[in-house]
Amino acid sequence: MVTPNGEGDRTAAVVGLQFGDEGKGKITDYLSGSYDVVVRFNGGTNAGHTVVTDDGTFKFHLLPSGSLRTSYVVLGSGMVIDPISLIPEIEIVKKVNPALKIIVSRNAHVVTKMHRQLDVEEEKIRSSLMIGTTAQGIGPTYEDKYARTGIRMGDITNFNVVKEKIETMYRMHSNLLSGTEFSQPEKRNEMAQALYDAGLKIKEYLDYTEMAIDRLYSQGKRILFEGAQGVFLDPDFGFYPFVTSSNTISASIYTGTGFSLRKVNRIIGVAKAYVSKVGEGPFPTEITDDLAKQLRDLGGEYGTTTGRPRRVGWLDLPMLRYAVRIDDVDELAITKVDTLGMLDRVKVCKQYLLDGRPIDYVPRDMETIKRIEPVYEEFDGWGSISDSISGRKISIDQLPPKLVKYIKFIEDQLGKPVGIISMGKERNRTVRIIK
Ligand code: IMP
Repeated sequence: MVTPNGEGDRTAAVVGLQFGDEGKGKITDYLSGSYDVVVRFNGGTNAGHTVVTDDGTFKFHLLPSGSLRTSYVVLGSGMVIDPISLIPEIEIVKKVNPALKIIVSRNAHVVTKMHRQLDVEEEKIRSSLMIGTTAQGIGPTYEDKYARTGIRMGDITNFNVVKEKIETMYRMHSNLLSGTEFSQPEKRNEMAQALYDAGLKIKEYLDYTEMAIDRLYSQGKRILFEGAQGVFLDPDFGFYPFVTSSNTISASIYTGTGFSLRKVNRIIGVAKAYVSKVGEGPFPTEITDDLAKQLRDLGGEYGTTTGRPRRVGWLDLPMLRYAVRIDDVDELAITKVDTLGMLDRVKVCKQYLLDGRPIDYVPRDMETIKRIEPVYEEFDGWGSISDSISGRKISIDQLPPKLVKYIKFIEDQLGKPVGIISMGKERNRTVRIIK
């Protein structure tokens, strides 16, 4: 049952509705104070979230952003985890939140240095179909998972198992790896040793997370699921092939943790007030002129994981309408309204034309999407938003009327309420709006 106030729900999920980087981290950080458990279910270090708190600025790639405020975090079996990157993240989070209990799936797959190398080698082969991956080894690790040659987190506590699996992986990929350091047996041995050393440090956190989540749920704990990436990076529902390698939609909570989606009380879809994207692929509302640079600089649109400048464009309602349906969203959270409002004029795409005719769907074959022409609605910018508008909840009447007009337009067009907005980096600038 969905209550009018998201924080009142026993279980909730935060998922991205665009190309990732929607600012989900801010929304989970905001909500996580009300939840005992925060769970990640997909992706790996390709994700990156920055959380600004009174204790400083924190960048996480594996731990959910809710880690700073909650009591338990779970890294589910749908994730791919680089154990060597996980250790420093655990050390940092333990300083800020010493009581935090961390539970890592024994069955999540392990990203190795070899997978990162394969990511680079595969991109070279793709040539004009290059994806622009984060080079974090994500795709190759999921490939090994589904080829049934992958290493799982539980394996790295046993040196012989890791060693044997690395040798199998090498044989499977030797054509791509022959010119690299991994062709040397001693390098593969070193890698096995480093993984085993990390395994010994992480051993205490390993568990069957589907059982752990179930236990916590049975004890009455409140659980928040934190998605990585966004609908348009989903390999089944996004702009394939310019996608990531794990499902990113809300349904992947079930497959990535074993927790039934039927028990998730509220799905919060996060969208940035405009759109940003790293990597190649279609982007119907992309802006490429001087305005793009202005928006990129205003919004600090440079990738958290790669530092790459992000492509930017106008809010795309046909994309959002589709994403809201695929994710079965209950309410929207809109981030970076402060950034967008600084522009004199703001555009929103409300409709696609295909060969001059209106269409009511998002084409996802790469030839058709090129022929899309967005139809825009224009708004006045709302200027800077007073610092005094902060706290956990505010009345919508406190917001600049021009921003309210923009929010109401989105709600009318999508038929879903905007429950939360984020209007600045600081924690108290992510607020629930009461209408
Ligand atoms: P991969 O996940 O590293 O294989 O990258 C595949 C595509 O997804 C590339 O376009 C990446 O830029 C994009 N991508 C992956 N993770 C994220 C994310 O967390 N935010 C934004 N883009 C991402």
